[in-house]
Amino acid sequence: MEWWKKAVVYQIYPMSFKDSNGDGMGDLGGVLEKVDYLKKLGVDIVWMTPIYESPMDDNGYDISDYYKINPLFGTMEQFEQLLDALHERGIRLIMDLVVNHTSDEHEWFRQARKDKSSKYHDYYIWKDRPITDQQSFFSGSVWEYNEETEEYYYHLFSRRQPDLNWDNPEVRKEVYKLINWWLDKGIDGFRMDVIDLIGKIPEESIMYGEKSHKYLQEMYRECFEGREAFTVGETSFATPVSAPLYSDKERKELTMVFGFEHLGLEEVKGNGKWDLKPLDVNELKQVFLVWQKALHEKGWNSLFWSNHDQPRIVSRMGNDTVYRKESAKMLGMILHGMQGTPYIYQGEEIGMTNVKFALEDYKDVETINMVKEKQEAGWSMEKIMKGIYAKGRDNARTPIQWNAGKNAGFSEHEPWIGINPNYKEINVEEAIKDEDSIFHFYQKLIRLRKEYEIISTGDFELLFEEDRRFFAYKRQADDRTLVVIANFTGESVVCDCTDEITFKEGRVLLSNYDRNSVEKIMSLRPYEAVMYYM
Ligand code: NOJ
Repeated sequence: MEWWKKAVVYQIYPMSFKDSNGDGMGDLGGVLEKVDYLKKLGVDIVWMTPIYESPMDDNGYDISDYYKINPLFGTMEQFEQLLDALHERGIRLIMDLVVNHTSDEHEWFRQARKDKSSKYHDYYIWKDRPITDQQSFFSGSVWEYNEETEEYYYHLFSRRQPDLNWDNPEVRKEVYKLINWWLDKGIDGFRMDVIDLIGKIPEESIMYGEKSHKYLQEMYRECFEGREAFTVGETSFATPVSAPLYSDKERKELTMVFGFEHLGLEEVKGNGKWDLKPLDVNELKQVFLVWQKALHEKGWNSLFWSNHDQPRIVSRMGNDTVYRKESAKMLGMILHGMQGTPYIYQGEEIGMTNVKFALEDYKDVETINMVKEKQEAGWSMEKIMKGIYAKGRDNARTPIQWNAGKNAGFSEHEPWIGINPNYKEINVEEAIKDEDSIFHFYQKLIRLRKEYEIISTGDFELLFEEDRRFFAYKRQADDRTLVVIANFTGESVVCDCTDEITFKEGRVLLSNYDRNSVEKIMSLRPYEAVMYYM
């Protein structure tokens, strides 16, 4: 079995992880201080979001030089030190590859925008007029006027993130060069930002297409063939049909992709991410079922509840007040019991929660642009704020709460973004001390994946498929069975497994209460979850 089939990834958003130089912003020195914490948790891979030179219009997802470290985060020397420190502890490091677009301050774009005859002009996508009415993800048209050349350039994200023209072989060559440069430096792979969008055809407003596969195969040949690198594509448009194509080993594209279907279920379809409806847990179960089946022996799933673009999962699908610990563990168990590679987003392992800031305290370009757009569209401020509280990306970007001290132990200086006021109760120091914490539960989940092969290999069937109170499933491999049963509600419920499970002698591998046996009929406490092996 490939090593990464038993691996767990930890995502670091360096700006909010740990500040080491007292400027209020997290940095590489801060990550270096915490490598033993990562080791203690037991993760195998660290994915670090962009730390390259950038004007930080989109917190580093707007790169102005792919070969330099942003001084806000530190130096290349510190980066190398960090890479060594992780490797010494048996932890691999993957970087973020953001090549759908660059920053408008990248030298290529500077040249491109001032001179039509520059070779860099064709590195980007230009039209004489806006040829579609397509909207960018961060509000407003995808077409932005450029005075010097009297043309419009295409940008799917902010206007300071012009899209690269992947149909230009020179662009692809530049990208492969930088990938190889970082791999030669010793990093272990990449998370690839919005990589399914590289195959778009702007004229048709198509965001996913055959071209994405073609370019990824070329990239594989040029960069990854013969290396043991790990790649995960952020593919917001991937489906259970395309995900196996991206991740089928024989096709030589990517190790795996992120599918987002399970995180779009509280959105009113077709209205974007801010127009909300309540989550239907049965829909959630069906999405997982379809993805688990689609990739079983045909590709590989990534398993994630959160990242730097998503709200905190315990606030989103659990209960972040009375049953915070129970529900965070329950959510951890149902995800980590599935087939795929789990990703833990910083702070998830201590059950960090969403925040409610005053409007002027939000920093995210997406949120700021959205407020303007929705106000113009006549949304009430109440509806807008409700959207931000539930879905705003800054929920995930508040500093890690290391302890109950000044600025939650994140920095000596006032942090670049507000701290969640609950840091006195919810923090790493507390979680490590408490044997029963979410942290220790996650530690066990990581360990179980290594000890029980069935977690990596077993098939997947839902139990209690129609019953909204439960999220439960069964995994089978050879003659062994793994069962996860979770009460997805804040009430006690009676769970009658008589018709769902054929019991054999077995044992409880993990419980978020104190359960040490599983019976045909049991009463499950609020958010109670149990993992049983037989
Ligand atoms: C996806 C990243 O995760 C997000 O943070 C970023 O804003 C966009 N891609 C654009 O790069």
